[in-house]
Amino acid sequence: MCGIVGYTGSSQAAPILLDGLEKLEYRGYDSAGIAVFSKKKKSEPSIEVIKAKGRLKVLFEMTDSGKSVKGTCGIGHTRWATHGEPSVVNSHPQYAKDKRVVVVHNGIIENYQELKERLMRDGCEFVSATDTEVVAHLLDRYYDSDPIDAISKLMYHVRGSYALGILFQDRPGEIYAVRKDSPLIVGRSSGGNFIASDVPAILKYTRDVCFIENQVIVRLTGKDIQFFDVDKAELKKEFTQIQWDTEAAEKGGFKHFMLKEIYEQPKAVRDTISPRIKDGKVNLEELNLSQEELSSIRRIQMVACGSAYHVCMTARYMMEELVRIPVDVDLASEFRYRKPVLEENTLVIVISQSGETADSLAALREAKKLGHKVLAVVNVVGSSIAREADSVFYTWAGPEISVATTKAYSTQLAAVYLLAIVLGKARGMVDEQAEAEMVEELQRLPEKIERILEEKERIQWFANKFSHSKDIFFIGRGLDYASSLEGSLKLKEISYIHSEAYAAGELKHGTISLIEDGILVVGVATQSELFEKLISNMVEVKSRGAYVLGVTSYGNYNMEDVANYTIYVPKTMECFAASLVVIPLQLLAYYVALGKGLDVDKPRNLAKSVTVE
Ligand code: AGP
Repeated sequence: MCGIVGYTGSSQAAPILLDGLEKLEYRGYDSAGIAVFSKKKKSEPSIEVIKAKGRLKVLFEMTDSGKSVKGTCGIGHTRWATHGEPSVVNSHPQYAKDKRVVVVHNGIIENYQELKERLMRDGCEFVSATDTEVVAHLLDRYYDSDPIDAISKLMYHVRGSYALGILFQDRPGEIYAVRKDSPLIVGRSSGGNFIASDVPAILKYTRDVCFIENQVIVRLTGKDIQFFDVDKAELKKEFTQIQWDTEAAEKGGFKHFMLKEIYEQPKAVRDTISPRIKDGKVNLEELNLSQEELSSIRRIQMVACGSAYHVCMTARYMMEELVRIPVDVDLASEFRYRKPVLEENTLVIVISQSGETADSLAALREAKKLGHKVLAVVNVVGSSIAREADSVFYTWAGPEISVATTKAYSTQLAAVYLLAIVLGKARGMVDEQAEAEMVEELQRLPEKIERILEEKERIQWFANKFSHSKDIFFIGRGLDYASSLEGSLKLKEISYIHSEAYAAGELKHGTISLIEDGILVVGVATQSELFEKLISNMVEVKSRGAYVLGVTSYGNYNMEDVANYTIYVPKTMECFAASLVVIPLQLLAYYVALGKGLDVDKPRNLAKSVTVE
């Protein structure tokens, strides 16, 4: 997820662009750049491009907050790297050789590799590792005096998601834009017109905006805005007045980043899965693990912290069942010191959203010291863990601002599902039909998550009843135990309510003594083979006074024979159920904390990335 902005009008553009990018830094902040039409040469306008690695303040310092860059029309970009590490050359704007066309992009071009190879065969020279540079070269190739025609041609050739801001060098004062699946708005004012990824970027200048629909092309001048469809027919578009204040706007109208990121999960999961499905099959060539290497793996050792550790716990259950090789799971802080003994042909998998967690990085180094290959599942491109691993599976969740992870967690689950299928195929445990069925179900997960989110009011109502609990227990068996761990952590880290997750079968070995009247116990039950056993555990706690919330899949209506309250999630293949059952658990935690009036996004004592021991 990146932030794009554009302005054309009567004022100096660069300061407006930088101000807009500053409001979009929550969308990405590893590098930034602007491109402005400037009369460097008296004879003709040229496009000046200024880019910098690091936070936006570097660009502010380079341009004296934009004052040193003349010109009244330009575009800007703040980056969250997906293709190509954070660097000046990989930052946007991207352009073809002579800046005939200059582009900023938010999204992922899924077929960029094949397009790039074709362009290179035709003699195009690339300087960056980005998918966006391919867009610049394609537009340069298609452009022959008609920008709308060039953009229309582009739309027929690229697959994936994009919101593009485009300058054509021989069109000074004009900005072009187009979107598919990535957000884009247009703003208008007496002082000029704007494009942006999101409202906060332009709220200071105008509240008069148009939310652009998919596959609509826009042409802006300082005085005029025109809309076209992919067939170049002109369209009429409605503008609306934004009522949000700036703070609400940064969260897309949500009260907290956490809720916004909970709602971004369908897109984050889709963005993580789709580019890895080619012709109906899982394709993880990016890992650079040969079939021989994959089939030679005899054991997997997973290492992580916190929620990422819960993904590893989930992975163990579903990988051992699907792939039939032993999967060990360790907390990174334990693994790094316990002098682990790893068998030969053990693949070590380290999972980390930030890629900077000190314990996880140390565990990676310990594994490499022992001579093992390390595969990292990471959300931040170019982070330490990503750089030091032997291969990296990037989750494309976009920047996660809230300390409590949600969308990154869900994309990590998607990553381990894809890894399991690839490992299963390599070991002959997953045949073509099984793969096809799993791929089809994986591609349905986003819409199923959306369906759960549509019922948030039921969860909010329930959460408000328990905002003042002192203890809340989560119990589950198998995969549901791993989900219980995540539900418990989510709750305690943002509500400060003591909570424990327990393997339901273990309760009777001591902990059940803590159950007394009114204590909330959340029973997670999506695994049919273990369902009746979990129900028995819920009866055990209920008979000791507990109030029982059941979280299960539609169809398991006998949950209501024992639960005081039941939340249902759509049915899915049981090995993927964790992706659905975690959604109500996230919402439960969020609304309990909200009910207590706490700072949900920045809980006390916590940091988004624990870069110290
Ligand atoms: C999760 O909500 C917590 N913020 C925390 O447990 C986190 O998962 C853990 O610190 C690991 O972080 P990482 O994924 O960036 O390595």
